[in-house]
Amino acid sequence: MIHMTAATIVFALLFYAAFAVLVLGVAYRVYGYARTPAPLKIPTTPAPTTRGGVALRLAREVLLFESLFKANLWLWACGWLFHVGLALVLLRHLRYFTEPIWFWVAWLQPFGVYAGFALAAGLAGLWVRRMFVARVRYISTPSDHLMLALLLAIAASGLLMKFVAHTDIVAVKAFFLGLIVFDWQPLPADGLLYVHLALVAALMLVFPYSKLLHAPGVFFSPSRNQVDNPRERRHIAAWAAGLDPKI
Ligand code: HEM
Repeated sequence: MIHMTAATIVFALLFYAAFAVLVLGVAYRVYGYARTPAPLKIPTTPAPTTRGGVALRLAREVLLFESLFKANLWLWACGWLFHVGLALVLLRHLRYFTEPIWFWVAWLQPFGVYAGFALAAGLAGLWVRRMFVARVRYISTPSDHLMLALLLAIAASGLLMKFVAHTDIVAVKAFFLGLIVFDWQPLPADGLLYVHLALVAALMLVFPYSKLLHAPGVFFSPSRNQVDNPRERRHIAAWAAGLDPKI
């Protein structure tokens, strides 16, 4: 066995734990959302009258943040910039976990770098809004600020590694591929990398307990996922149907 540093062992165990909490925690939350009854027909109108229309509406909501665009242009701009940047950055990171690298992940690489800046700019805008718009500051909780700070610190440490103090990304990849097949490889001794990874593990650990659950949650929102057909079909939750002797 290759000689392991304490940091390698700590990070290996940390990532196994964080991955388990993330996957099991989110699965448990989604299970809860899926089992929550929706007793009322409450699609936000005007709403689609077919299931295909609902799928299209949800797709526009998830990909373009359509309702936010109509509600608040500045919030939409910052939020969308952050989320698109995050999506590209995460896809770019797939290169650390796959061998050989999929062609489209290789193709995405240059966009992913700019996406890092878009992500940070979007987050900064969202945070400025929480700090300086009085109405929003009033309803902001410590966790709202903490999630923004955590994401911004992850982006900042990542960008610093990319542009200021390089880390050994070949060794980082070997470490993560090794974790996947339970064949641990040494993690480079690099403070900035430790910071980036520790913050990422923290993000994975808090995800199932945090407001970030809106990501899976949006698909379960009755006001977004219901078909507007109350006259054509009586809406009745399964548990309520069981109570009604006429059904
Ligand atoms: C276990 C998961 C992760 C690993 C192993 C990892 C590793 C790395 C490494 C090695 C770099 C430097 C890239 C280079 O020098 O070319 C980097 C950059 C970066 N990371 Fe991560 N990271 C992880 C998760 C995340 C997450 C969850 C985020 C966002 C929330 C993130 C955001 C960034 C950003 C914005 C950059 C700079 C731009 C770029 O190079 O893509 N990272 N990351």
